[in-house]
Amino acid sequence: MKSGAELREVTATRYVEPLHAGGSVPGVVEADDLGTYVAKFTGSAQGRKALVAEVIVGELGRRLGLRVPELVRVVFDPAVAAHEPHQEVQDLLRASAGLNLGMDLLPGAVDFSAADRDAVAVGPLEAGRIVWLDALTANVDRTVHSPNLMVWPGAGPAEPRLWLIDHGAALVFHHRWDTAANAVGKVYDFRAHALGGYHPDTVAADAELAPRVTEPLLREIVARVPDEWLAGEPGFTGPDAVRAAYVGHLAARARASATWLPTGFHGREQLAAETARRVAATEAARPGWLKHVPDLHGRPQTR
Ligand SMILES: Nc1ncnc2c1ncn2[C@@H]1O[C@H](COP(=O)(O)OP(=O)(O)OP(=O)(O)O)[C@@H](O)[C@H]1O
Ligand SMILES: [Mg+2]
Repeated sequence: MKSGAELREVTATRYVEPLHAGGSVPGVVEADDLGTYVAKFTGSAQGRKALVAEVIVGELGRRLGLRVPELVRVVFDPAVAAHEPHQEVQDLLRASAGLNLGMDLLPGAVDFSAADRDAVAVGPLEAGRIVWLDALTANVDRTVHSPNLMVWPGAGPAEPRLWLIDHGAALVFHHRWDTAANAVGKVYDFRAHALGGYHPDTVAADAELAPRVTEPLLREIVARVPDEWLAGEPGFTGPDAVRAAYVGHLAARARASATWLPTGFHGREQLAAETARRVAATEAARPGWLKHVPDLHGRPQTR
């Protein structure tokens, strides 16, 4: 099955610095193509399945028209990081000799914040497409607390846009292949989604995207996952059998979108109205003698 083009391969020439903001401690690396990448290491606690999810979801997102920085295979020799002073980072890098994953670094990009409405324009269809991809791939890591969305360019005359990063926590089903079939129609919990307040039009996104997630497309995508990260999976005869399982699962889930499609997002006005209603109800329930005291949660008085 591995006939499609593999990810482009580069060799790291310098380890620049660790990104301590990321739980897996990704690192900025320069490579022999003069590019700069955010490298995710096979030796991290998240392990190689996180890298498999990064490749499958990132490549699928890009094929569906979303912005995902280029992913590459990074050949890494820990010797290029000999100057790195942190012992725990050294341990991680020494455990990661060989093939790792790189994502093109977006220079000067800023982390998206759901609260900052002015940083980037996000329309209902774009928000809907992103929520749809996350729901299809069971991505639990695109919340208001951890959006894993970048705004780039961060400055200058060009219009800033949303870019999708960090899909390592998606494809939850691949941690238990024996029960994966039960997850094909599993409802996606979208309540804390980073774009929940942006009126995501998931119905339009579903009509547009579900027919495009075909088995031939998925086969091309899983062919981009290196054999090394699929080898030795219990219950499978080899990497191609695991690839076939991803294709089967995601194609079936795309066909079953009616069962998991998130709808019923509250708009910004609706969310504000609900908060106001809650505050008013709390206020009304307080005895008269307490009404002039700020409430116990320290919320400012509305009157
Ligand atoms: N391609 C990129 N361009 C610019 N900055 C990036 C890029 N990828 C990651 N970053 C920065 O590095 C941070 C950590 O990256 P990422 O979320 O991928 O790591 P992680 O270890 O999977 O994180 P966690 O699991 O804690 O969410 C991001 O929040 C962002 O600030
Ligand atoms: Mg992250």
